[in-house]
Amino acid sequence: MGEIVFTEKQEALVKESWEILKQDISKYSLHFFSQILEIAPAAKGMFSFLRDTDEVPHNNPKLKAHAVKVFKMTCETAIQLREKGKVVVSDTTLQYLGSVHLKSGVVDPHFEVVKEALLRTLKEGLGEKYNEEVEGAWSQAYDHLALAIKNEMKQEV
Ligand code: HEM
Repeated sequence: MGEIVFTEKQEALVKESWEILKQDISKYSLHFFSQILEIAPAAKGMFSFLRDTDEVPHNNPKLKAHAVKVFKMTCETAIQLREKGKVVVSDTTLQYLGSVHLKSGVVDPHFEVVKEALLRTLKEGLGEKYNEEVEGAWSQAYDHLALAIKNEMKQEV
């Protein structure tokens, strides 16, 4: 893959917005999963902590962990894109991510669902600070990370 242009401004926007959401991560984790289920109700069956409940469970550590991972890893990806012009995820992490998602029945279109839920959650959390630039920076970082995971999943089939 060629060099990716990811600016310092974009990196700063991603970092700043993650700092804001992190302060109330329980609330935003719930929002994130509510959005996932609103966009793709069938996704419920994939998550162990959603499968047997009628509503998104409050204060569930696994739910929170997944939300945090998605936000944090996207943020780390943004930093790498700016520093190195590419995504660097260690092979073991990538293999783990590939196998967890493959095993859970995740397929490519689910990554678009999660992206939309992530952007909606940012919009909710940032209020007036949310704009096209913020959206673009997060989208770009997320797309690169998602691609790395999807590629790994294909290699494992
Ligand atoms: C599990 C990260 C996208 C569904 C996990 C785990 C990580 C992770 C680190 C393991 C959790 C643990 O060990 O506690 C990510 C990242 C993503 C992403 C960084 C995108 C950039 C998705 C998507 C879906 C998905 C698109 C499907 C809608 C799942 C499921 C599990 C899982 C079902 C198993 C959770 C459980 O039942 O406990 N993910 N994920 N993930 N992920 Fe993702």
